[in-house]
Amino acid sequence: MIVIATHNRDKEKELRAVLRDFPLEVKSLDHFPEIGDIEETGLTLMENAKIKAETVQKITQLPSLGDDTGLEVDALNGAPGVYSSRFAGEDVTYEKNVKKLLYKLVSVPIEKRTARFRTVIYYTDGKRELYSEGEIKGIITEKQIGKNGFGYDPVFYIPEVKKTMAELSPEEKNKLSHRGQAMRKLRKLLLDIIP
Ligand code: IMP
Repeated sequence: MIVIATHNRDKEKELRAVLRDFPLEVKSLDHFPEIGDIEETGLTLMENAKIKAETVQKITQLPSLGDDTGLEVDALNGAPGVYSSRFAGEDVTYEKNVKKLLYKLVSVPIEKRTARFRTVIYYTDGKRELYSEGEIKGIITEKQIGKNGFGYDPVFYIPEVKKTMAELSPEEKNKLSHRGQAMRKLRKLLLDIIP
C-alpha cells in the first residue's frame, strides 16, 4: 500500500492516473482524517515534497508520496515558485492566484512571458527515499483559455501543442506535464524496489 500525501484532489487525480495499474493499492488522505493540513515550511519544492511525504509516513507508518509544484515565471524572477498556492494569500482560490499573476504581468510583452512548471515528488517508506522531478516550459497568456485542468492551467500556453494546459484532456495533460513526467519517473524507480 502507498499513500498520496496531498489534500489537493486535482493533484491526486493526476498522480493516480499514472499509478492506475501499479501493483500496490494507492490510498488518499481521505482514509486518514486525523491528518490535517501539512504546513509547507520548506524553501524549495524538494523540501516541501519531503515534508509532506515524511509527515504522512510517520503518522500512517505506510510508504508515502509527497508532491510539490511551482510555477516559475522568468519576468517575476522565478515567482510564484514555491509559493504558487499562496501567491494571492493564504487559502485563496485558484482564480485569485491567476488574476494576480495576470495583473503582475500586464505590461510584460508576450516574448518575455516565459515560464515553467516544476514538480518534485518524494517517496519514503521510513527506510528508503526516492525522488524525481518533472518540468514543462511554456508562456503565460494574457487571458484565461480553456476549461480543463486546475490552478494556473488556463494561462499556461504550451508552444509545442499550441494550446494552453487547460485545453488539454486529462490524458494529454498527463503525457506532457511536469507532474506526469515526475510521476512516471518515480513509478519506474518504485517498481525497482518493491518486492
Ligand atoms: P502545491 O504543490 O500544492 O504547493 O501547489 C502549488 C500550486 O500550484 C497549486 O495550488 C496550484 O495553484 C498550482 N499548481 C500545481 N500543479 C498545477 C498544475 O498541474 N497546473 C496548474 N497549476 C498547478
